[in-house]
Amino acid sequence: MGGDLFEAIDPRPARQPIAEGATLLRGFALADERELIAALRAILAEAPFRQMITPGGHTMSVAMSNCGAVGWVTDRKGYRYDAIDPDSGRPWPPMPAVLMDLAVRAASEAGFANFHPDACLINRYVPGAKMSLHQDKDEADFTAPIVSVSLGLPAVFMFGGAKRSDKPQRFALEHGDVVAWGGAARLAFHGVAALKDGEHPLLGRQRINLTFRKAR
Ligand code: SIN
Ligand code: FE2
Repeated sequence: MGGDLFEAIDPRPARQPIAEGATLLRGFALADERELIAALRAILAEAPFRQMITPGGHTMSVAMSNCGAVGWVTDRKGYRYDAIDPDSGRPWPPMPAVLMDLAVRAASEAGFANFHPDACLINRYVPGAKMSLHQDKDEADFTAPIVSVSLGLPAVFMFGGAKRSDKPQRFALEHGDVVAWGGAARLAFHGVAALKDGEHPLLGRQRINLTFRKAR
């Protein structure tokens, strides 16, 4: 499969601009799926998924972990990046080359050269889990883009504008899809609708999202 005939009739273009400064790269991570999943298993053995608490006291439906020099955390004290995993008291696992390379290549493909991520947030959605509209704004430097990799069950990604009230567009993100946003879109509100139940051949009843940032 995957010959010219299929490409010609594929309704999903490989590289889709979704807003000024935002690009959806369909299937960009597919070639690395097994290596990515193996690397994730090793990271999660060191830093297992946990459901963090928001500053307002709510338990997030999405479970999280991190790899890289710093990791995104939230607790009653606020949102921040920290070099130490609060659950283990140890540094987050380093970012494996297979993750780093994918993020750098995706950023470059979307028009952001010289991306040097130092943080990878790993989000785990089980059926019903969601992430409400938010901006990624805990990073020190907004000139670097955000690169977001989807694995496992499909999800509806909401991508809005600079104001919370800007009506978001909705995109189906499937296993292997990558979204990169920066420049005019860097502080766009975005979120994920409640995950529908299903079974993914490699990952089962879950969606894993990797969000690469330059945090410091
Ligand atoms: C996020 O904004 O951190 C997650 C986005 C996603 O799960 O696709
Ligand atoms: Fe985000």
